[in-house]
Amino acid sequence: MSEQVEVLVEGKSVKLPVLVGTENEKAIDIAKLRTETGYITYDAGFKNTGSTKSAITFLDGELGILSYRGYPIDQLAEKSNFLEVAYLLIYGELPSATALASFENAIKENSAVPAQVNHIIDGFPAGSHPMAVLSALTVALTGYHPESMEENPSEELLNSLIIKAIAQFPTLVAYAYRKSQGLAVIEPRTDLDYCSNFYHMMFGKEADAVISDALNKLLILHADHEQNCSTSTVRIVGSSHASLYASLSAGICALWGPLHGGANQAVIEMLEEIKKDGGDTAKYILKAKDKNDSFRLMGFGHRVYKNFDPRAKIIKVACDQILGKLGVNDPVLAIAKGLEEVALSDQYFVDRKLYPNVDFYSGIIYRALGIPTDYFTPMFALGRFPGWIAQWKELRADNEPIGRPRQLYVGATERNYVEIANR
Ligand code: CMC
Repeated sequence: MSEQVEVLVEGKSVKLPVLVGTENEKAIDIAKLRTETGYITYDAGFKNTGSTKSAITFLDGELGILSYRGYPIDQLAEKSNFLEVAYLLIYGELPSATALASFENAIKENSAVPAQVNHIIDGFPAGSHPMAVLSALTVALTGYHPESMEENPSEELLNSLIIKAIAQFPTLVAYAYRKSQGLAVIEPRTDLDYCSNFYHMMFGKEADAVISDALNKLLILHADHEQNCSTSTVRIVGSSHASLYASLSAGICALWGPLHGGANQAVIEMLEEIKKDGGDTAKYILKAKDKNDSFRLMGFGHRVYKNFDPRAKIIKVACDQILGKLGVNDPVLAIAKGLEEVALSDQYFVDRKLYPNVDFYSGIIYRALGIPTDYFTPMFALGRFPGWIAQWKELRADNEPIGRPRQLYVGATERNYVEIANR
């Protein structure tokens, strides 16, 4: 007999099954709670709700553990490269040398985008945020690849859609960037690896080993993060059987917000503001603690990591190394370090377990690589593409039902319509 919990609702006892994950995480299956008692569960922000079973990413926020398909994130960041990690996330296993070579080649061969995308980019007013442009370009892929709208794609079709998504997104990011700067777009090169090709399309320069390593690390660290806001968005859109590209486009919009992927841009803007204001970190710590002030320390805190963010640990070391190797002496780095030091010893941050997250340092590295601030969040999206794709693929393979939460209604009770003259 598998484990059960007993819930007492208005004197009636209901037995609910307990589900156990492979890392011994436990969940109460409440599917029959409403039919048996009339009650629903209430959990704003889904802080304690499992929305799915997933075999992709494991995260323990208390212990600061993150692994993709069982492989610890630090091993992948040190030894792997982004496309190998993408393959692992999407197909479940590390590829053989032949499988990886054929995956990489297919991506190179599909990296060109239709010339008409230039018109879409041109249609946006100058200064438009790139996340808006990229969300539009991604959903536009449904128009260029109408087969993507097939409701139940065969394995072969799905693989070809996946390859196109991973191959074409960096080209779209680079096109949007070049055009925003009034520069001619640069076609992808099939003789370069994924990260070097992306760097070339952005800046027209060859990436050296330091740059390519930094890009690989950053993209790997962002590649998946289980059921966060944008991934849950991709899954819920996909659950209606909307196409992969429509779901990815929705993920881009969800990631854009400053509480999620937009935090990397917000961190640099905050550090710049502190610098302009004389570099007084203590003043901004006080503002962050003041409940009457809406200011938050961007890059601090996390919904699930309540000890430390394992990605931040890796990126902090990488940040020092990369800046050293590139010979960059960024004054905002000193402010970031000062802020981190004060916050880590301040009782407010200690009590609430607020630590620097991955985005506290990623922006500093992107800046050193020459990526403009408003392109930090597109970089996050570029890294997150394989994760979103893996989650979408898993959702459809598991034949999950359409996502449709319930609510607790707190509005007016029934009342009669009042004619406008009598209001
Ligand atoms: N600065 C100051 N106070 C904070 C901060 C912060 N960055 N984050 C949380 N708090 C306080 C918050 O005011 C609350 O205090 P109290 O208990 O006195 O009301 C307490 O800490 C708990 O905060 P919460 O908002 O209930 O926590 P949450 O889990 O809902 O929010 C978060 C998590 C990431 C949205 C939030 O910490 C935040 O806004 N951080 C800044 C934005 C940021 O860096 N986001 C990137 C996340 S990492 C990238 C990603 O994976 O998306």
